[in-house]
Amino acid sequence: MKPSGDPWTASGMKDFNKPHEAGVRAFLQALVHDPRTHAKFLNMLSMLEHMGSRKIMVSQMKRPEEMDQDTLQHLAEEARHAYFFKRHAERVNGSAMKGWVDENTMTRVPALMYFGRMDAGISKQVGERDAYGWVSLIIELRACWLYAIYNEVVEEAGVHLPLKGLLAEEDHHLAEMFEMCGENYDLLKELSRYETGLFVKLWSALEEAYSSHVDSAKAA
Ligand SMILES: [Fe+2]
Ligand SMILES: [Fe+2]
Repeated sequence: MKPSGDPWTASGMKDFNKPHEAGVRAFLQALVHDPRTHAKFLNMLSMLEHMGSRKIMVSQMKRPEEMDQDTLQHLAEEARHAYFFKRHAERVNGSAMKGWVDENTMTRVPALMYFGRMDAGISKQVGERDAYGWVSLIIELRACWLYAIYNEVVEEAGVHLPLKGLLAEEDHHLAEMFEMCGENYDLLKELSRYETGLFVKLWSALEEAYSSHVDSAKAA
């Protein structure tokens, strides 16, 4: 059944995140002019996309009778997003960035914690069976929100990073997951608030990592 309304209004996500928008934008505006750090940020996004695709694979292995074309497409697209960010990370870096280690991944551990806590917290709330749809729905809201700002920042700055195709895919996933989860908007709001708290923590870790990098560059 197609739910009435749209995921943005139903989740209240943009409202919860209004206070964070300017800070996120300012951070990205500085970051895109610092190729070495920008490359590490891109590699972190690559890691998160890879975790997203892996999560879909693992959760669907537990229910093989449910695997359909849409889910396989979703999985393949998240895997391609991981590839996309890795490819651009290496291009911006000017050399290979193998794997995801502290040396080449910005706030690697806080990013892992963000994903792990979100996945665990939401799965606990909705149950294993429905975790795929709800975890994905919450991730897609964040991906669409963040990548839209990121896209505006790179376009304004004239920095080459073609995010449009990826953004369209995340938008499509968002609509699909919203349809899958139905009209439990109270739960959607609660989960979106929960994720926003975790995102804010991850973002402060990024800001801290970036400012200590800038300080050490000044001192050198
Ligand atoms: Fe993605
Ligand atoms: Fe997605």
